[in-house]
Amino acid sequence: GTVTIGIDDIELATSHHVVRLDDFAEANGTDPNKFRLGLGQDEFSFPAPDEDVVTMAAAAAAPIIQRSGTEGIRTMLFATESGIDQSKAAGMAVHSLLDLPSQMRVVEVKEACYSATAALQAAVGIVTRSPGQRVLVIASDVARYALDSPGEPTQGAGAVAMLVSADPKLLEIEPVSGLNSADVDDFWRPNDSTTAIVDGALSVTAYLDALTGAWTDLAAQGGPAMAQIDRVLYHQPFTKMAKKAQVHLAGLTGEDLDTEVVAGASGAGASGAGAVDAGTSDAGSTGPTAAHSATAADSATAGSADSSAATGPRDTGLATSTLYNRRLGNSYTASLYAGLCSLLDHDEDLAGKRIGLFSYGSGSVGEFFTARVVPGYEQHSRRRTVTDALDARVPLSIDAYRALHAAELSSAEDVTTPKVTAGPFRFAGIKGRARLYERA
Ligand code: CAA
Repeated sequence: GTVTIGIDDIELATSHHVVRLDDFAEANGTDPNKFRLGLGQDEFSFPAPDEDVVTMAAAAAAPIIQRSGTEGIRTMLFATESGIDQSKAAGMAVHSLLDLPSQMRVVEVKEACYSATAALQAAVGIVTRSPGQRVLVIASDVARYALDSPGEPTQGAGAVAMLVSADPKLLEIEPVSGLNSADVDDFWRPNDSTTAIVDGALSVTAYLDALTGAWTDLAAQGGPAMAQIDRVLYHQPFTKMAKKAQVHLAGLTGEDLDTEVVAGASGAGASGAGAVDAGTSDAGSTGPTAAHSATAADSATAGSADSSAATGPRDTGLATSTLYNRRLGNSYTASLYAGLCSLLDHDEDLAGKRIGLFSYGSGSVGEFFTARVVPGYEQHSRRRTVTDALDARVPLSIDAYRALHAAELSSAEDVTTPKVTAGPFRFAGIKGRARLYERA
């Protein structure tokens, strides 16, 4: 028979610190519902001085390597918007921290938040050619906007590592993709800037335009119709964007899709308000959504099984796929795949189901592709470890956060970073203009 290829293993890691948007709202004199409901975000991860995309990437990949060894892994593709060098691939430091074999190619790929999907497709290509090989794909980002800019509450930090192989245990990636590229200045980061430049309103329409283009191309390529897709995942710069995309896709396809993103569903900082996402005609303040409140997020049965009435809109997993992201914040390249982790870890009815994944990177590229969930996926849940990692983050006061945000290292000066992170790897400092890493 034909060889199936896809994601055999996946892990999510984040930073040591967290900023709670309720604290942020208080400090700014903003209504907290602007963030909880308006953006669909509760918190954002923020790195300690001894963390960056390398330390999060290594932390995400380490358990995968521990479980399945390095046999057949000859390629590492590191996707990031927030790389740490203009020339050397960030993956090289991960290669060293994880003691990976020298018989490997290690490269970095870039196209804003999209590049992890390009890396994933390249990995599928390599394994198609050489089914005995496995490819380590890592998406890792720190999303940084200027202090006091509209993008600031949509910052975040996280890494997702994926092992791509033949006969995968989690997700079989299907061969048809819908693609859309358009040269647009909606979000970018000049070489001399540590924060992104963004035209917020344009970025939202550019995202939706890319979704239209990619969906149209998927159909032209002979891809499945919406009725044949059971769940949909989106790039989540903030979870409300996934809802906007879902409403847009419902319009494109004429299907009645779920559009409820749930607020107050996470543990830390959220007092279990279980507030319903406002701003849509279909989202009432009571009713079936209560099933997706704080209790649902913490129980073992959240997901489609307990969701809305049979007559309501089709449940494509919008609520379950946004649970991690509303606490992580934006993780750029990792965001779509953090959404995948959230779905796999909270939906017990996915075996054999088809998932549609929409990846978007400003600038811009959109790709809509599909995958089948492999039966038995639920035996590999990350729910406990991810929830523990999110809960374990150390909250920053807004003053402390602003000071950390403003502190920028120059490669021109040798520096030893303070030991802060409780994670397994740390950025130790700069010496002779080179960045140094170590096991914590
Ligand atoms: N209660 C409930 N809702 C409230 C509220 C309140 N008290 N106050 C405001 N809101 C709602 C608003 O009605 C609005 O809802 P809609 O989007 O449904 O209209 C929402 O909160 C946002 O408020 P504003 O319209 O005032 O927008 P803003 O000035 O805060 O900016 C933003 C929002 C443009 C997304 C900004 O956060 C930003 O620039 N973020 C970075 C860019 C970004 O993430 N773009 C996404 C697409 S690009 C992409 O996907 C790539 C990427 O990762 C960057």
